Amino acid sequence: MVRHQFLVLAFAGSNPAAPAIIMKYNIDVAAEVSANGYGWLNGAGLDPTSEELKGLEDLAPLWDDLVLDPYLKVEGTTRLRKYSRYDLDVASGDVARLSHELFSQGEEHNPLFGGQERKFEPCPPELDENPYFLGLAGLIRQALPDIYGHWQMRTHMVRIQVTGGESAQPVPEGPHRDGYDYICISMIGRTGVSGGETTIYKKGEEAGTRTLINPGDGLILDDRRYTHDTTPLSLIEGNDSGSRDVFLFGFEPITV
Ligand SMILES: [Fe+2]
Repeated sequence: MVRHQFLVLAFAGSNPAAPAIIMKYNIDVAAEVSANGYGWLNGAGLDPTSEELKGLEDLAPLWDDLVLDPYLKVEGTTRLRKYSRYDLDVASGDVARLSHELFSQGEEHNPLFGGQERKFEPCPPELDENPYFLGLAGLIRQALPDIYGHWQMRTHMVRIQVTGGESAQPVPEGPHRDGYDYICISMIGRTGVSGGETTIYKKGEEAGTRTLINPGDGLILDDRRYTHDTTPLSLIEGNDSGSRDVFLFGFEPITV
């Protein structure tokens, strides 16, 4: 229902598209997603000479400028973020920023914030031409069903910050769907923290688990078939603070 509202806004608010790039991982993640409904991304498998990996290094400092998420009130957990929407053209792979809007999720998917409109600062413009961002979009595009010509790509830059003796919760809502067709978690970097193991479940049964550690690690997941969760983060001894920086994406077709 919600997705039907996007088309007019999408094209009315879009900026010129950045050209397509396809990320070069050393396994065919898109084929795994098509076959199994999920695929893990291994950052160590990125071509070390690639433009995309350089793009990933350029991205990391942008996480230092994220803005406190005022809606999250979980003791010990500080979340900073920015959010923007993009149009992904399946045929061409072009990625174009859409007009900025409030963010909301259905109550059935997010027990903490479902039904609430949340206002986040937009992602910085540098993102729009970044080879890692575009490469990831290009990779995911290969896994998306091509019966839809355009997909809305909800893009969240998120930092979970840990200070003091508390543990921080990257996913305070527990195992859940995000409410899209496909989602992606992509590790930008983590420092001074342990934990943060991501597990996916199919019909309540554990289907896979991995801790995203290295930049470029990640998960592409069919959000309709699996739920996901991530364990709390704790400071590694000797650190006063730490953080876990990720990209979170939600993909839904534009079907009007
Ligand atoms: Fe989620």
